[in-house]
Parts: sequence; C-alpha cells; structure tokens
Amino acid sequence: RERLEREMALTEKEEALVKESWQIMKQNIPEYSLRFFTIILEIAPAAKNMFSFLRDSVEVPQNNPKLKAHALIVFKMTCESAIQLREKGQVVVGETTIKYLGAVHVKNGVIDPHFEVVKQALLRTVEEAVGEKWSEEMKCAWGSAYDQLAAAIKAEMKQEP
Ligand code: HEM
Repeated sequence: RERLEREMALTEKEEALVKESWQIMKQNIPEYSLRFFTIILEIAPAAKNMFSFLRDSVEVPQNNPKLKAHALIVFKMTCESAIQLREKGQVVVGETTIKYLGAVHVKNGVIDPHFEVVKQALLRTVEEAVGEKWSEEMKCAWGSAYDQLAAAIKAEMKQEP
C-alpha cells in the first residue's frame, strides 16, 4: 500500500511543470477550450450528442459559456489534483463535489472509456499551448494527475443508482 501511494505521488518538479503550463493556458481559455473540444470530437465524434452545447450546432461553438466552463473545470481540477498529489500523495475531492461529479456524468451518459478520450484531448491541448516547453515529464505529470482525478470520479459514478 505504501509503495503504491509513493508511486502515484507527484514530485515537486512535476507539480511545477503542471503549474507552469496552467499559467500559460489560463491566459487564453476561449482558445484552448475550443481546441480541447475540437480534439475530443476528432477522437470521438459520437461524444457530440452528450454535450447540450454541441448537440444542436454543426461546428464547435466559439465563446460558448458552458463549453468554456467544462474545459476550464477539467484543466483546473487536474491542476489542483497535481498539487494535492505532491502535497498529500493523493487526490482529495470534497464529498459534495465528488457526489455531484458522479451524478452529473452518469446522468449525461458518460462511461469509463470517455475519460481516456478526454485525457488525450487534454494532453494535446497542453502540448499545443506550451509549444517548445512540452516534454515527456510534463506529459506524465498531467497524465498522472488526470488519471487519479478520473479514477475518483469513475469510482463515484459506480455508486450512482
Ligand atoms: C458536465 C467536470 C470529464 C462529459 C460536467 C460538469 C462538471 C464536469 C463540473 C457540470 C457542469 C455544469 O455545472 O453544468 C468534469 C471533470 C472531468 C470530466 C472534472 C474529468 C476530470 C468528463 C468526460 C466526459 C464528460 C470524460 C465525457 C466525454 C460531461 C457532460 C456534461 C458534463 C456531457 C454535461 C454538460 C452539458 O451538457 O452542459 N463535467 N468532467 N465529462 N461532463 Fe464532465
């Protein structure tokens, strides 16, 4: 058990890489949220029907508040998870938040494999945003923070009736 927790924790360097890239992404949420959803639909075109703000439009809508909100929350919660993984060795999500996240995704027809799609889109969005600062280590740090956050949401989804 101890060994597992240590393996999943993030190093200071990895935490710094996530924070650094988040600072860059934060400066242009409209652009990166659009890229994020465009990549999601490139990988999984059928995902379009799950999102209320994509269902009724031909193209991924520019400056849609709900689209930006979902992208922002995924970027931000992954970044917060990276910090927790360095500080505490685990992802900590409040009881109310995790219950809400579990419920909202079950209600909208999200299933486990969708989380892998979103992971790939997230990594590619970060890669494009940071340009030449991108590295294997940065990719691993974002990937591991995301995986452990996704694991918490998926576990909660299984508790939903
Ligand atoms: C809604 C977070 C992954 C699909 C939401 C909402 C939050 C959220 C907070 C509620 C937004 C609101 O208040 O309206 C997250 C986080 C994720 C994640 C933190 C991963 C770390 C995913 C994945 C999918 C997905 C993998 C499927 C591809 C949806 C859909 C909605 C939703 C369809 C409803 C949006 C709408 O139609 O307005 N998500 N999500 N999410 N999420 Fe996620």
